[in-house]
Amino acid sequence: PVIWCVVPAAGVGKRFGASKPKQYLPFHGMTVFESTLQRLLEVQGIQQVVVAISTEDAFFKKLPVARNCKVKSVIGGAERCHSVLNGLRYLSNLGSDQDWVLVHDVARPCVRAADIQKLIEQVIQFDSVGGILGNPVRDTMKRANRVNEIVDTVDRNQLWHALTPQMFRLGALTSALTSALADDVVVTDEAQAMERVGYHPLLVEGHNDNIKITHPQDLPLAELFAQQQTAP
Ligand code: CTP
Ligand code: MG
Repeated sequence: PVIWCVVPAAGVGKRFGASKPKQYLPFHGMTVFESTLQRLLEVQGIQQVVVAISTEDAFFKKLPVARNCKVKSVIGGAERCHSVLNGLRYLSNLGSDQDWVLVHDVARPCVRAADIQKLIEQVIQFDSVGGILGNPVRDTMKRANRVNEIVDTVDRNQLWHALTPQMFRLGALTSALTSALADDVVVTDEAQAMERVGYHPLLVEGHNDNIKITHPQDLPLAELFAQQQTAP
């Protein structure tokens, strides 16, 4: 099967609040961005990685990996979903509707190539519409009302954290995201766009060290995970 990859990387890292976007901060002897790309490029069978970069971004082109022949950049959009769609539109000229595309946040530098491989194998094996890496929630989950009183306890066995990569057919995902935007729904992941049009993507259990660097305290934690992963 033909497998492409889109990496939304046009965020500014507002919640992180550093002087530059969080993907350009030092991480495990490189940058967050380079760690993420290194792991994606380790995966067998990915044809090309398309990164969506903000027009204001002066950092990406300085990374050595920007010159890797498997890496191509496109312009990012206002929200994550617009950035992803720009990547998909670029790929539609290279591939076909039935090709697969993995979408992975640049801010998840601890993703394991083995988990990505597992996602690819399971989605293809179950001949599924697509699937995502996820992780079962560990805490007891409560539903609240508007004044933060507990209304009930949600069955934890049915709840997962949605991680990335998320893997879908290029054509179906492009249609689903286009439809979400046409209806003014800002989806926060690809699966949500697919759910809206009636699909039931597969959840494939990944490791819970595949965290998204969001707040400053996430960076040292992610570094620790990366060190643990590479320890002999
Ligand atoms: N992203 C993107 N285009 C945008 C917004 C976000 O490509 N317009 C990407 C980010 O670069 C990141 C992923 O989407 O890889 C997940 O977004 P998030 O963690 O929210 O990153 P930021 O938007 O950069 O952070 P914040 O929301 O705190 O500003
Ligand atoms: Mg954001």
